[in-house]
Amino acid sequence: MSIISKDISKAIQLLTAENIVAIPTETVYGLAGNIYSEKAIKAIFETKKRPFFNPLIVHIPSIDSLSTIVEYIPEKAKLLAEAFWPGPITLVLKKKAIIPDLITGGKDTVAVRVPNHSTTLELLSKLDFPLAAPSANPFSSISPTTAQHVESYFKNTIKMVLDGGACTSGIESTIIGFENDEPIIYRLGSTAIEAIEAVVGNIKIKNSVTESKTLETQKTPDAPGMLARHYAPKTKTILTDNILEAISHYPNKRIGVLVFKPELKINGVITEIILSKKGDLSEAASKLYDALHQLDTLDLDIIIAEKLPDFGLGKSINDRLLRATK
Ligand code: TXA
Ligand code: MG
Repeated sequence: MSIISKDISKAIQLLTAENIVAIPTETVYGLAGNIYSEKAIKAIFETKKRPFFNPLIVHIPSIDSLSTIVEYIPEKAKLLAEAFWPGPITLVLKKKAIIPDLITGGKDTVAVRVPNHSTTLELLSKLDFPLAAPSANPFSSISPTTAQHVESYFKNTIKMVLDGGACTSGIESTIIGFENDEPIIYRLGSTAIEAIEAVVGNIKIKNSVTESKTLETQKTPDAPGMLARHYAPKTKTILTDNILEAISHYPNKRIGVLVFKPELKINGVITEIILSKKGDLSEAASKLYDALHQLDTLDLDIIIAEKLPDFGLGKSINDRLLRATK
């Protein structure tokens, strides 16, 4: 029997009884549990096979709940929350003592956001506790953007996926930390850097993955979890500026190609997925993970992905594609 259901009251029952439930958000599906339940939080880590040092994001119903979670809100954090919540920005702030160490990997900061999804906002407003929710995928594999993706990963290990349809943004939230009250991007994501800069001015990016950085040099990143290899299909994946040249290096191989828009005539491949026929970056972001999921089922020798324009959401998509190649 399918574990996918639209029944919010069933989700409330399960979560209140300290079970974990997969929930929809605008970015990706999350694997959620009561932040105050040690049983639920341990189950999240075990189900994902996620190391305990990698902290979780706390999901709250509105900005009003923020002061119950965090000790102190810098001015620019307030501006960002007001500008983007509900929405795909996560703020890393000094935690209140009540937030369990298990959630934060022992750090004195906590990551928090208000997701922009009507089903999950309703769920959160009816619960008397916030939900910790990492993306609902096994550690380092492709994030889920449909209830079916989650079911295919966890049908034997969790009781329910709350169905909220396909995620509209499609890549994870942008994570912003604060150093001396100044914001700094820990993870590129569904809110474009230019939109953030319009609110708080110039902002630096930490943990950006570059081609020269290897897995080894990224083993101790500042935001735990921002490892070089992440969001990765099982199939070998490469990222290129020149798709036709890259294809020519793999004669007689089963190739799958992932391109931004229909620009070139591509021959001799098993399949070609176009992220956005009209060349729209948000449409491309919303389709990215589903495309990688699809390519990963085709028993390919290699996935060749085209680099997107390096601005706006293109920058965030390139970050994910590069991590998929490591
Ligand atoms: O869009 C999203 O953010 C999704 C949905 C479900 O909300 N969630 C998500 O969670 O992507 P997850 O666990 O896959 O990624 C959360 C990342 C961690 O890998 C870690 O890098 C960072 O958030 N993080 C969490 N707490 C942190 C902290 N206290 N300091 C620094 N980084 C933190
Ligand atoms: Mg994740």
